[in-house]
Amino acid sequence: NAKAMAVLKSGSSAVEAVQQGVMIVESDPKITSVGYGGLPNASGVVELDASIMDGNDLECGAVAALSGFENPVSVARKVMEETPHVLIVGSGAREFALSKGFQERGLLTDAAREAWHKWREGERKKDQTEDHDTIGMVALDSRGQMAAACTTSGLAWKIPGRVGDSPLVGHGLYCDSKVGGAAATGIGE
Ligand code: GLY
Repeated sequence: NAKAMAVLKSGSSAVEAVQQGVMIVESDPKITSVGYGGLPNASGVVELDASIMDGNDLECGAVAALSGFENPVSVARKVMEETPHVLIVGSGAREFALSKGFQERGLLTDAAREAWHKWREGERKKDQTEDHDTIGMVALDSRGQMAAACTTSGLAWKIPGRVGDSPLVGHGLYCDSKVGGAAATGIGE
């Protein structure tokens, strides 16, 4: 919130504010349900989902089941601004991110790998809702533009390829500058 407010106060757009705001959380290895440091799927791979929406023109972009990129919200913004599409998933999202110059990196921290090993050995609950959360952010800038962003690593230990609500516009988020905006957390199913 502090980062997004600083972006707004600098005169930048609501889209820029929500992107930069949630990137702080995506890049924080201590947060185990979003971005780098997120708990992995059942195969030990961190798969990320993210979306972003501009409330002025209702343009939106999203990625799902994307591995290897710390800030999926930034890839989602590229989908919104530089393609005619809304949602790109899996290997296509990876190729798209690479084509836009995003750098690949490992997302599985030592702590998340250890948690995954414990889960496989039955030392952690099988309940996939454990440690689950999501970040959603909605901003209103001084020109009256609203934007929203939502980003998550999804449910820990999920079946590879599982996608929840976060990258689905109208489910994980929605915003319209004339009306308002919302973002959802919780179990996407
Ligand atoms: N709400 C995020 C998810 O279920 O993946």
